Amino acid sequence: MSEKNLDGRKALITGGARGIGAAIAHALARSGAAVMIGDILDDAGQATAAEIAKAGEKAGVKTGFIHLDVTDDAQWEKAVAATVATLGGYDILINNAGIEITSLVSEIKAEDARRMCDVNIVGTVLGMKHAFRAMRPGGLAGKGGAIVNIASVAATIAFPSIAVYSGTKSAVDRMTRVGAMEAGKLGYGVRVNCIYPGLIPTDMGMQLANDIVKIGLAPDVNAAVGSVVEQTPLGKLAEVGDIADAAVFLCSNDARFITGIGLPVDGGMGM
Ligand SMILES: NC(=O)c1ccc[n+]([C@@H]2O[C@H](COP(=O)([O-])OP(=O)(O)OC[C@H]3O[C@@H](n4cnc5c(N)ncnc54)[C@H](O)[C@@H]3O)[C@@H](O)[C@H]2O)c1
Repeated sequence: MSEKNLDGRKALITGGARGIGAAIAHALARSGAAVMIGDILDDAGQATAAEIAKAGEKAGVKTGFIHLDVTDDAQWEKAVAATVATLGGYDILINNAGIEITSLVSEIKAEDARRMCDVNIVGTVLGMKHAFRAMRPGGLAGKGGAIVNIASVAATIAFPSIAVYSGTKSAVDRMTRVGAMEAGKLGYGVRVNCIYPGLIPTDMGMQLANDIVKIGLAPDVNAAVGSVVEQTPLGKLAEVGDIADAAVFLCSNDARFITGIGLPVDGGMGM
């Protein structure tokens, strides 16, 4: 695990209660950032914030939890205000909350497609909106910052049964570029980048493997996972820590001249 220096930085991580978001929250805290977790899972989110505080990842690091449904504009406003009030500033946003509902194109339900668009696209752009407003000069926090959007290798390949999810992650990729362009040109002092994680055995990743079996694209979960591993030059699934390290890098001063990129962290699957 890398130890970039994020001392004094203040981060809000959406979907930080579990999985990749929780790993990123731990990694940011280990690097010295204060972290606020925003999630719809209140108990798990509070438990993750408490774990980070207890781990004493780095002396004096503040943590907090705020209920945040990323699809709700008003809840974003409250979450940003709470982040600034609790942590004493706001200069990192990890737009990580996301959902995946597996379906062949021929079977897609309109409500599932809309729900994925709402969480993955609307949720991400609202996060950027409220981060820009708070971080830019004259904003509630006003010191610039870094945004990392969590896209997916699915934005870069054609994987059967996740058409709409892949479309939403391609949207995240494109919104990252436009956001980076606006933030740069308008002098916000905010860098915006995204990461394309490969398949990771989180709740979401294992659900996808199970769904692939259910719809008949693989005989069992081992075969489903095995086919992804086979398509991955580095020969294994990603781990949450792989994504967390990349996120810490993109937030750190080491990435100070990097904006508007999509960074694959997928073992080469999308090359
Ligand atoms: N696991 C993978 O294989 C994989 C691969 C590529 C990209 N990703 C992306 O990484 C991100 C995290 O995925 P994960 O595997 O940790 O998933 P996960 O399901 O384990 O965790 C997702 C978190 O987001 C939260 N969330 C869902 N809807 C929300 C909403 N409306 N508002 C706030 N929080 C909400 C959930 O409560 C949960 O805590 C997602 O954006 C996902 O699309 C995952």
